[in-house]
Amino acid sequence: MAWSNDLSVGVRVLDEDHKKLVAMVNELYDAMKDGKGKETLGGILGRLTAYTVEHFDREERLFSQTSYPNAAAHRGEHEALKAQVSDIQRKYNAGSGISLTLETMNFLKSWLLNHIKGSDQKYSQHLNAHGFA
Ligand SMILES: [Fe+2]
Ligand SMILES: [Fe+2]
Repeated sequence: MAWSNDLSVGVRVLDEDHKKLVAMVNELYDAMKDGKGKETLGGILGRLTAYTVEHFDREERLFSQTSYPNAAAHRGEHEALKAQVSDIQRKYNAGSGISLTLETMNFLKSWLLNHIKGSDQKYSQHLNAHGFA
């Protein structure tokens, strides 16, 4: 999966976050494909979870600062995604049966892309109009 301009949200710091998240999902995918051990995979998953939270917080701070009208719905999506990602992480670390499968990878990849395209890109105009670019 590659970051390309059609994923841009028009705010540099947030594009940088999204690029990092894409890179982490790719890193996880490669590590899984190479048969890396649980410690490696768990470590990447932990960083991915932490960075997801950090990134969502950054977006939400901008929503507050600019009184973004769709903030509540968007925050709701973040909450649901955070719960899903940390659930994957928790189950993986607990070793309770789930392995990092292609299915998990596809889930991570699609939430990231769908959320950026379906929700994040909707705030571009609003944030640009408030001086964030
Ligand atoms: Fe985002
Ligand atoms: Fe978002």
